[in-house]
Amino acid sequence: MSLGRILTLSNGSKLPQIGLGTWLSQPNEVESAVEIAVRNGYRHLDLARVYQNQDEVGRALKKIIPSVVKREELFITSKLWNNSHQPDQVEKALDETLEQIGTDYLDLYLIHWPVAFPPGKGLFPLHPTKEGEVELDTKTSLVETWKAMIALPKSKVRAIGVSNFTVDHLEAIIAATGVVPVVNQIEAHPLLPQDELVAYSKEKNIHLTAYSPLGNNLAGKPKLTEHPVVEEVAKKLGATTAQVLVAWGVYRGYSVIPKSVQESRIKSNFQQVELSKEDYEKISSIGKDNYTRFNIPIGYSPKWDIALFGEPEEKSASFTPTVQ
Ligand SMILES: NC(=O)c1ccc[n+]([C@@H]2O[C@H](COP(=O)([O-])OP(=O)(O)OC[C@H]3O[C@@H](n4cnc5c(N)ncnc54)[C@H](OP(=O)(O)O)[C@@H]3O)[C@@H](O)[C@H]2O)c1
Repeated sequence: MSLGRILTLSNGSKLPQIGLGTWLSQPNEVESAVEIAVRNGYRHLDLARVYQNQDEVGRALKKIIPSVVKREELFITSKLWNNSHQPDQVEKALDETLEQIGTDYLDLYLIHWPVAFPPGKGLFPLHPTKEGEVELDTKTSLVETWKAMIALPKSKVRAIGVSNFTVDHLEAIIAATGVVPVVNQIEAHPLLPQDELVAYSKEKNIHLTAYSPLGNNLAGKPKLTEHPVVEEVAKKLGATTAQVLVAWGVYRGYSVIPKSVQESRIKSNFQQVELSKEDYEKISSIGKDNYTRFNIPIGYSPKWDIALFGEPEEKSASFTPTVQ
């Protein structure tokens, strides 16, 4: 059984390039998804406190460790949720995550978003006066949270990183601490190639993990997995469209974490196909006049009243991240 390509991160950790995403995996789905994935070669699992299914992932791990894999053969990522950015909350939140997953350590722990919510009021604390909005904590800064991440015991986290950080957010935390995140996990697919972040990350040796690599397939939007150009290349290569989209991310050097809870897709998404330069360019061309970012929190329900990416949708936002 092939375990796929393995990348080396700046801290020396070995990261399997294709991982399994677990966001929106419903109760009773993710346990079998994780088990199927690991039995079929996946060694990289992407989790988060906010997905509210880490305990179920933990149940799957209990079944397969150590009979199918040893813990140290897996690369497990999880993420600090927004309501635990306050320095005194960071290790507590990590401990809760470790408890849910049933493991002593994470291979990678990320700040999930450059956005803080107040602690102790649930995952999405509602704003006391503004209906349909989450309450933000505009006092806790990204630098404070990053310092608390740096201070986490190495016995509990092998590497630390961030997610959804822009070049400005990265510059701020690096300038303040001198510690460069090992990974930035970002939305990346042919409609959102993230060229600026790619160039900056290369210079700083920050590895990029591509999330929503299949375009997430949000209801109501045309599916990237059904895009005619992607279909054309897939047909030529005798591959699935999802494999072509994963290969596009691989071509750019990302690690890629497609989510599926369906056995045949979990298996086929992991089978890598290679894109020629010509096919890569053809797939890239679909983003030229169709720039699309699917994950913009100001559009979430409840809404986060904060501008993160400089997108037109964020013009009305009252806040930007508190960096210092
Ligand atoms: N850091 C962050 O803020 C952040 C944000 C978003 C996502 N993520 C991570 O990235 C992972 C992947 O992103 P995502 O879940 O947003 O979206 P995605 O992986 O781009 O797409 C998932 C969707 O594609 C479908 N799908 C999977 N394989 C397919 C195939 N072979 N053909 C057609 N459709 C297929 C899935 O349905 P089925 O399950 O029914 O197959 C699901 O509806 C997440 O699960 C999460 O772990 C992180």
